[in-house]
Amino acid sequence: MTTKGRKDTFEEPRNFLITGGAGFIGSHLCELLLSRGHSVVALDDLSTGSTANIKALSNHQEFRLVEGSIVEESIVTPLVEEVDVVVHLAAAVGVRLIVEQPVQTLESNVLGTFQVLKAARIHGKKVLLASSSEVYGEGTRVPFSEDDRVVLGPTSRNRWAYAASKMLDEFLALAYCREFGTPVVVFRLFNTVGPRQTGEYGMVLPRFVAQALRSEDLTVHGDGTQTRSFCDVRDAVRAISGLAETAEAVGRVFNIGGTEEITILELAQRVTRQLASSSKPVLVPYSQVYGPDFDDMLRRQPDLSRIRATLGWEARISLEETIDALSESIRQSQQGRS
Ligand SMILES: NC(=O)c1ccc[n+]([C@@H]2O[C@H](COP(=O)([O-])OP(=O)(O)OC[C@H]3O[C@@H](n4cnc5c(N)ncnc54)[C@H](O)[C@@H]3O)[C@@H](O)[C@H]2O)c1
Repeated sequence: MTTKGRKDTFEEPRNFLITGGAGFIGSHLCELLLSRGHSVVALDDLSTGSTANIKALSNHQEFRLVEGSIVEESIVTPLVEEVDVVVHLAAAVGVRLIVEQPVQTLESNVLGTFQVLKAARIHGKKVLLASSSEVYGEGTRVPFSEDDRVVLGPTSRNRWAYAASKMLDEFLALAYCREFGTPVVVFRLFNTVGPRQTGEYGMVLPRFVAQALRSEDLTVHGDGTQTRSFCDVRDAVRAISGLAETAEAVGRVFNIGGTEEITILELAQRVTRQLASSSKPVLVPYSQVYGPDFDDMLRRQPDLSRIRATLGWEARISLEETIDALSESIRQSQQGRS
């Protein structure tokens, strides 16, 4: 593969460790890398991921799942030693989990990243770190660009623990790169959506699609005027794999996201229309869902000029295609359960 005329640096197959490889994004990344001839070890504690996500890979000769936690040095270090590149996706994810289990969020996200980076330093391996658009905090100057200044909410509000943990991960990764020469790349994912995603942990699109398929009300948090842009997971993992292959990306931070900005109320309406569902959107106050003092951002829109210039990457899959693929995968998993 060449990107914008730049030669792929991976002319030979590589060995990858994907932490969180049984998760939503991880399972798609495993699939893509295997399809390109690489070998993959997935490390996952199956807390929010599942073996169902990687069922299709279970008999692949170049794939292996290790069940365990990224916070355990005795598990992480030998796995990092075994591979060429680590893509560190494992984290406590989702707004609900963060509000309900702040200690676990902080421990997994900070301690886990520390273990991965420490092992990568010892064994001289490349690390790609998954961060989040959450690190843009309460920023209002959209689109968000990688070097923007950020303001987070107060520590008394749990919701910001996730953003702060990802920010600390980024600082750690960039510090390992500067101080020890560990090759790291940080990518900040904006709302990533698509097949196999579950609405169980507060993700909006799979929740809407599942509600529409069950002909239930679509619960829109707040007044629905908050906007987001969505990127299909199959586009996002193409970007991650491109970053892994590009020497120029090392030591830098990249946004990965979609370009179309849409209000959450419009998103609900689009889902019901597209799935020909009789469901209706209903507004639910944030306080009812996440308790008092919950902050949400009005807009979250990525500036994608850096990743475009570096990889020539563009998202290709439309929101309509994503909704179709997601509804098909939710239907299949519902059939599998019944
Ligand atoms: N989906 C999005 O829109 C989005 C947006 C921004 C950032 N991200 C980041 O992308 C990464 C992947 O998220 P996802 O959406 O695929 O969620 P996910 O929950 O499906 O994936 C996370 C995976 O990590 C595993 N995990 C959690 N704690 C672990 C631990 N201590 N040890 C080993 N495995 C552990 C989970 O079981 C799961 O398989 C995360 O780092 C997340 O913060 C995702």
